[in-house]
Amino acid sequence: MKAIVTGATSGIGAATVRALAAERFAVLAVARRGDRLADLQNETGAQTLVGDVRDIAALTHEIERFAPDILINNAGVGHGIDGLAGIGPEVLQEAIDINVTSLAQLTAAALPGMIESGRGHIVNIGSIAGLHTLVSALYGATKAAVHMFSQNLRFELIGTGVRVTEICPGRVASEFYQAAEGDRERLDRIGASGIRTLDPEDVADAILYAIGAPPHVNVTTLEILPTDQAVGGVRVAN
Ligand SMILES: NC(=O)c1ccc[n+]([C@@H]2O[C@H](COP(=O)([O-])OP(=O)(O)OC[C@H]3O[C@@H](n4cnc5c(N)ncnc54)[C@H](OP(=O)(O)O)[C@@H]3O)[C@@H](O)[C@H]2O)c1
Repeated sequence: MKAIVTGATSGIGAATVRALAAERFAVLAVARRGDRLADLQNETGAQTLVGDVRDIAALTHEIERFAPDILINNAGVGHGIDGLAGIGPEVLQEAIDINVTSLAQLTAAALPGMIESGRGHIVNIGSIAGLHTLVSALYGATKAAVHMFSQNLRFELIGTGVRVTEICPGRVASEFYQAAEGDRERLDRIGASGIRTLDPEDVADAILYAIGAPPHVNVTTLEILPTDQAVGGVRVAN
């Protein structure tokens, strides 16, 4: 089985490449930082592509060449995760381009081959921010788009054998907050929450569970939170 993983140079993406390689999947790992991809290639044997998910022409060419059975749309940015105020137009557009537009474009490019072969799996990394109210108007809007994209696509693909899974994690220990654009001091405070977060490997495990389900089983939406996190309002501690 062949899988493409976008955003493979850190966090959930890197953990997923390692987990897939350990299960003997042929993997094409995609991200912008070539030095990290080279290390990952040495470690796992994965093929790599140094590229930006917004470069749809180059990525479409690679999708046609590699012909993946599985596309894992993981690349994403947390711009505006600490609030919308002060976010400039370029950063706002970048969040939409990376989190939504590229995900839809890569999926559109991968689908014809999957439909033709009568099987395939699109795995989209959403977020609890796309399902619930959190303090993240812009980021939540991009992930809400991922949610309805996944829901509607699943419906569109009935009868084709192609499955669509959306994984919605809560807080994961990764470089997410360091990479996000926004108020650096606030981002650092949010990132260092002090709770026992999920590890990227926990999310990779969930992805492998969905992929490994029998072909007639579609794991649709998986919400995964740290035990110390819950969606809700204010709670007074004991
Ligand atoms: N961390 C959390 O708490 C959390 C919670 C829920 C959902 N998520 C979602 O999980 C996914 C992975 O995030 P993470 O936590 O693993 O964060 P991360 O450690 O910051 O990893 C993000 C990855 O995306 C890649 N990327 C970003 N922009 C890209 C672009 N334009 N083209 C290609 N690759 C790009 C980065 O690689 P390069 O910079 O090398 O390109 C990096 O490998 C994201 O979709 C995020 O929204 C994260």
